Amino acid sequence: MSFTLLAGRPVADALLESLKADVKKLDPKLVVVQVGDDPASASYINQKLKSCSAVGMRHQHMHLSDSTTLPELMKTIDDLNKDADVTGFIVQLPLPKQLQPHVPDVIKAIDPKKDIDGFGAYNIGKMFLSVEFEHLPPATPSGVIEMLKFYNIAIEGKHAVVVGRSNIVGKPLAVMLLNRGATVTVCHSKTKNLAEITRQADILCAAVGSAKMITKDMVKPGAVIIDIGVSRVDGKLCGDIDFDAVSTVASAITPVPGGVGPLTVASLIRNCVTAKKRQLAA
Ligand code: GUN
Repeated sequence: MSFTLLAGRPVADALLESLKADVKKLDPKLVVVQVGDDPASASYINQKLKSCSAVGMRHQHMHLSDSTTLPELMKTIDDLNKDADVTGFIVQLPLPKQLQPHVPDVIKAIDPKKDIDGFGAYNIGKMFLSVEFEHLPPATPSGVIEMLKFYNIAIEGKHAVVVGRSNIVGKPLAVMLLNRGATVTVCHSKTKNLAEITRQADILCAAVGSAKMITKDMVKPGAVIIDIGVSRVDGKLCGDIDFDAVSTVASAITPVPGGVGPLTVASLIRNCVTAKKRQLAA
């Protein structure tokens, strides 16, 4: 079976292009807070800042030391919340070991109006309610929706299976697909008969971070495959989908890298523009 390669770059470029006029007019500013030196984070942050430059958005990279304490990080967040010139900011995850247990407190401390990651309860709650209430939806699920839209892949009436139940990808993606009319099944590490369920998927989304865990026998012929998992094997980026084998049965499939990744970044930048519009309207 021939398949459509769901490349993320053209989708991200189209989205970024569509934001340029608003960026010019509204002049938002995005701040990325990095704590410590996680090498994967450094690469993600680099991509975010590069895309800010590409659309002409003001941006700042605040790099705090690996030994930053919780009060120090909270003070940084408080300052960013109060700084009227800062439209939106993110605290890049994962945090260093001493701060990792405090991720919920850190997310809670971010002003919902500036929470452009869409990780806080307020923005998650709005996303949960309906498509109309989505204001700052989480960037990666939002990128998946954008990908499906760009390649004219209908969601309504489809059986979407999401493998992974993280708060930043699996769970919000399941809700966003549900709100667009999909019948959604969420699978995770405790799911029994995983392959039996994934084989029922019209749209199969994998967001686990376990290299090539979705094999050809787990996929229905003709399914649309969205790979959101990222892991490193021998230093190389690897998705959750066994791409070479699964692409022989899929109708459409995202590559890793070059699939959902660029859309996560573009969606974050869109959220910063949306945040600025709301702040001006308030
Ligand atoms: N780490 C991996 N993905 C993300 C993301 O989308 N936002 C933040 N803040 N950290 C991440």
